[in-house]
Amino acid sequence: MKAAIKVLGIFGSPRRGGNTELLLEEALRGAEREGATVERLYLSDFTITPCKECHGCDNTGNCVILDDMQKIYPKLLGADVIILASPIFFYGVTAWAKALIDRSQALWVRKYLLKDPSLGKGGKKRKGFFISVGATKGEKIFEGAILTAKYFFDVLNAEYMGELVFKSVEAKGDISKHPGALGQAFEAGRKLVLE
Ligand SMILES: Cc1cc2nc3c(=O)[nH]c(=O)nc-3n(C[C@H](O)[C@H](O)[C@H](O)COP(=O)(O)O)c2cc1C
Repeated sequence: MKAAIKVLGIFGSPRRGGNTELLLEEALRGAEREGATVERLYLSDFTITPCKECHGCDNTGNCVILDDMQKIYPKLLGADVIILASPIFFYGVTAWAKALIDRSQALWVRKYLLKDPSLGKGGKKRKGFFISVGATKGEKIFEGAILTAKYFFDVLNAEYMGELVFKSVEAKGDISKHPGALGQAFEAGRKLVLE
């Protein structure tokens, strides 16, 4: 029997029940509908120290900071599909999400300095998808966050499968009033497993 596709959902907002949580939850339900095994990672439940730029990972590809990120590395590497959801905070992802991304520097080292084949061309292929919302209507509100997400996924050998982003979404639950948004998230989750 074919092993179920493993989907890791990264909840990057500290606001529980908020807009990105609602969207990511729908995407994960869509993935589950297609038979995927889903793991939910609520970043605000973890202690992830920001990268200290100590270069302690340069020779080993292992981060020397012994906090909750150590539990997260195997989850990132074990996933077939990673969905990162973060609202826009000051034109970027939240500090919660950015801390995880910056701590992935240890994996960047494995891939690009140590040439670890498991993260190279012949290594496991993953898929990455980004979900975001912002309160304003600014033309470029998602640009910085999308670039950050793309480079994060690159480190994980995850093909960037695209994003689902919504503007003018501010109060908790506002996304539910956005016509079709939750349905689009559900479909995106299904497609990530089927494609
Ligand atoms: C610290 C902070 C910074 C924010 N910065 C921006 C911003 O730069 N642009 C924007 O459009 N919205 C900004 N917002 C609004 C949030 O993106 C918005 O309220 C979003 O719906 C929150 O998503 P959540 O419910 O998933 O937490 C900011 C909110 C906070 C708390």
